[in-house]
Amino acid sequence: MKTISNIKIQEDLARVFKGRIRLNESLAEHTYIKIGGPVDLFLNPEDIADLRAAIEFLNKADIPWVIIGKGSNLLVSDQVLPIAAIELNNDFFQQISKRDNIVYAAAGVSLARFVNFNKSQGLAGSEFLAGIPGSIGGAVFMNAGARDLYSGSLEKICSIADITVKVQVMDKQGNLRIINKKDIKFSYRSCGLDEQIILAAWFELKPGVEQKIDLDIQVFLNNKIKTQELCLPNAGCIFKNPAATKVSAGALIDQASLKGLAIGDAAISFIHANFIVNKGNASFAQVKSLIVKIQETVKNKYSICLEPEVKIWDREGLE
Ligand code: EPU
Repeated sequence: MKTISNIKIQEDLARVFKGRIRLNESLAEHTYIKIGGPVDLFLNPEDIADLRAAIEFLNKADIPWVIIGKGSNLLVSDQVLPIAAIELNNDFFQQISKRDNIVYAAAGVSLARFVNFNKSQGLAGSEFLAGIPGSIGGAVFMNAGARDLYSGSLEKICSIADITVKVQVMDKQGNLRIINKKDIKFSYRSCGLDEQIILAAWFELKPGVEQKIDLDIQVFLNNKIKTQELCLPNAGCIFKNPAATKVSAGALIDQASLKGLAIGDAAISFIHANFIVNKGNASFAQVKSLIVKIQETVKNKYSICLEPEVKIWDREGLE
């Protein structure tokens, strides 16, 4: 990978790009687990045209780039990454509006704001997203979800796919498209649009009473407070729940007596075994070693391969 220290590249970019350009920005500041080295360029496009200008420039200059959301499900190498990270959080990407029961939300809208907006409009159906850290862009990309606390069967998962009507995307060459839900291959923790940038989405909700919506939000929030790691920096659930068994990844890791196991400052949470916490100065290598240790132990004990849910970015590859 080449480095982008070249002043000419920065000057040329500034000529076509209106948004903020930061150099050597530490991604530890942009990930919930507070781990991540500097990227050469960190860009905040003003709007869609500006995003297109950035990616056309980067493609031409042969500079790898990634889109970063709120960094809640992201584990980044602490080495220098000679890439550009693009964050969609300027005002343009914060727009949210509604027409009848359909809510439009741009990629940078936080899930907390989305859930509160819907509540204030008397629209029900997004309460299960309460307490999930992240943005609309990241949530659609990962098909974020939670266990359905109402169905009586915790095996049922509510996912953002359930309420999605259509998604606006840009491909890696800058072409725009709106894709209807029937053409999106949503699955557990994926929307199948890996080659696209999520710009915005439309969601169908149903009329509800604000007080009831609020109570339901509290149910989901309280469940998170009781069962999940909220104090120490972490990247959410590290592994997907395995399809091969009904036992969750967290329960398997717990049953393997791994809670509390630490490598340096990276430790398996005592509260929920599928969370790795950063107790202070955990390094990328320590978290990766812990991930491998968990995978090996669970494989040896239960013959089950745990697949990471977190996105991992390092010099070898950007997932
Ligand atoms: N469990 C244990 N020990 C633990 C953790 C969990 O025995 O240390 C048991 C629980 O008691 C429960 C079962 O495992 O019987 C499932 O646990 P939980 O209800 O916490 O659900 P989960 O499958 O671990 C999923 C999502 C979470 C989401 C929660 C709540 C995945 C990988 N995780 O967790 O999503 O918040 O349901 O709805 O699908 C995320 O994806 O980053 C995430 C946090």
